[in-house]
This record gives sequence, structure tokens and C-alpha cells, in this order.
Amino acid sequence: MKIFTSLLIILSILCCFVKSQKFINFIPYQDYECLTPSFGIGYSISTSQPCIYNLGNGPSATPMSYTATWESFSVNETYLYLKTYNYTDMACQSALQQYSMLNNSCTFSSFLPLPFNGTVVSVTFQYSLVSLTDEPVYPPNSLLFSQYAEPNFNVCDNSDLMFTTTISNGLKVVNGDYSTSYICNNNTAYLDNCINRTNCKLSNVTLSCNQAGNANNQVNYC
Ligand SMILES: *[C@@H]1O[C@H](CO)[C@@H](O)[C@H](O)[C@H]1NC(C)=O
Ligand SMILES: *[C@@H]1O[C@H](CO)[C@@H](O)[C@H](O)[C@H]1NC(C)=O
Ligand SMILES: *[C@@H]1O[C@H](CO)[C@@H](O)[C@H](O)[C@H]1NC(C)=O
Ligand SMILES: *[C@@H]1O[C@H](CO)[C@@H](O)[C@H](O)[C@H]1NC(C)=O
Ligand SMILES: *[C@@H]1O[C@H](CO)[C@@H](O)[C@H](O)[C@H]1NC(C)=O
Ligand SMILES: *[C@@H]1O[C@H](CO)[C@@H](O)[C@H](O)[C@H]1NC(C)=O
Ligand SMILES: *[C@@H]1O[C@H](CO)[C@@H](O)[C@H](O)[C@H]1NC(C)=O
Repeated sequence: MKIFTSLLIILSILCCFVKSQKFINFIPYQDYECLTPSFGIGYSISTSQPCIYNLGNGPSATPMSYTATWESFSVNETYLYLKTYNYTDMACQSALQQYSMLNNSCTFSSFLPLPFNGTVVSVTFQYSLVSLTDEPVYPPNSLLFSQYAEPNFNVCDNSDLMFTTTISNGLKVVNGDYSTSYICNNNTAYLDNCINRTNCKLSNVTLSCNQAGNANNQVNYC
């Protein structure tokens, strides 16, 4: 009987631990009410990752570590937290900053990291509609860059998803003489890289989970 009870307890803990896999979604907008069509840089971040190193895989010289967590106080009162850690704190033990947001609210989200080195053209402020869901939620008409956890290479289920970075079709980034446009066409993800506006090269950056040479467990698509 005792063993049976213990088993039941263990099973119920296991059940709820597995079920507690959730995602915090940031759907980008340019207005403070999140009413205009979605445009910008978004994220969907797993809450079951103990520590995410360099959210967005950006080229930062000193990338930060991140955790995404949440807490429910009542039916309509769920808070979502994004915490940042020093890049040397790779176990995410002492948070530097904590950003709290009410579920399903439109929030100023300048704290989200940029996944590239440059300035976004014609985007001044970024707001995000934040939500907590069982499966990731993505904005329409965007390039999706999904990072899966090691060591399950070539297994790209949502249960292994660490985060997805989303970039709106048509978004352009400038860095000095260089620019990059993110393009979705016919379900294929492209980057249009230009030097001095005229010398451009379009490259297909679509990447599937089990594609040969895909060593980083990253998947890119539209
Ligand atoms: C970002 O771009 C600037 C200007 O091109 C360059 O000086 C800098 O080293 C770059 N930073 C990183 C982290 O790549
Ligand atoms: C939760 O929100 C719903 C719909 O807005 C409302 O009808 C309900 O009274 C709210 N419940 C609480 C506990 O605030
Ligand atoms: C991160 O840690 C390094 C080494 O411990 C330290 O030099 C640096 O100032 C820290 N950065 C921040 C933002 O706390
Ligand atoms: C958070 O908001 C989303 C979007 O409205 C909703 O689907 C989800 O159930 C909410 N989660 C919680 C825990 O209230
Ligand atoms: C769009 O993609 C489909 C499937 O990859 C391909 O068969 C079709 O030719 C493409 N159309 C254009 C206009 O590139
Ligand atoms: C861009 O054009 C300017 C002026 O013609 C030139 O000086 C510069 O070297 C060019 N940049 C690159 C990266 O080729
Ligand atoms: C883009 O690249 C992917 C992956 O290499 C390939 O499967 C697809 O056919 C390419 N699409 C086009 C339109 O070149």
C-alpha cells in the first residue's frame, strides 16, 4: 500500500512536470495597444529550460543568459517573467534584471535582445503582445529561427524547443555600408544581403531539422 501510494505520488509529479511545459510568446507590434498589424522581432521561449544562453543567437560580444518563468495568482492574474543573467552565470543563478508582464497584455519590450548586429529600418518602438501557451504562438508572415536543445540532435519536437526567434517578412537591418532584408517567399526563408545598396546577394536560409550539415539543431522556415 505504501509503495502504491509513493508510486502514485511520483506518477502525479511526473505527469504535472511534463504538462508544465509552456511557452512565453512575444508577438511584435509598433503601437502601444498592439492593434496595428504585427511587425518586428518576436520570440517564443520555453519555460522548461533552466538557462538559455544567448537568446536569439545574436552576435553580441557579451551575450546574456535568460530564463522565462511564470506565476498564477488567480484565474485572470498570471504574470510572465523574463530574467537576464551575466554571460558568465551560465547556470542562471543570480538574476541581473527581471521583466514582469501580465499575461495577454501589450508591453513595451525594448529589453528583448536583437538577433543581429545593426539597426532596424523604420522601426522606432517595439511593443509585444505577451502570452503563455502550451504550444508556441508565432506572428503571421514571418521568418522563424528555431533553436532546439542538445543533445537530441535531429529531434525537433516542441518538447525540445528552447526558443524561436521570429522576424517579419520585409524587415531590414542596416549596419554601415551593409544591410540585410529578411524575406519569406513561397514558404522559403531568404536573406538579401547588400553592400552599399546596390551589390546584393539573395540567399536561401531555409534549414530543416535533419538536414546534412545542420550541426547546431537550428531550423529556419517561413
Ligand atoms: C557590430 O558592427 C560594428 C560595425 O560594423 C562592429 O564594429 C562590431 O564589432 C560588431 N559587433 C559584433 C559583436 O559583431
Ligand atoms: C476574469 O475575466 C473575465 C472576462 O474578462 C471576467 O468576466 C471575470 O470576472 C474575471 N475574473 C476575475 C476573478 O477577475
Ligand atoms: C559579468 O561578469 C564579469 C566577470 O565576472 C564581470 O566582469 C562583468 O562586469 C559582469 N557584467 C555585468 C553586466 O554584471
Ligand atoms: C494567457 O493568455 C493566453 C492568451 O489569451 C491564454 O490562452 C492563456 O490561457 C492564458 N494563460 C493563463 C495561465 O491564464
Ligand atoms: C513554390 O514552391 C513549390 C514547392 O517547393 C514549387 O513547386 C513551386 O515551383 C514554387 N513556386 C515558385 C513560383 O517558385
Ligand atoms: C561603399 O561605397 C563607398 C563610396 O563609394 C566606398 O568608399 C566603400 O568602400 C564602399 N563599402 C564597401 C564595403 O565596399
Ligand atoms: C531552399 O533550401 C532548402 C534547404 O536547403 C531546400 O530544400 C529548398 O528546395 C530551397 N528552396 C529554393 C526555392 O531554393
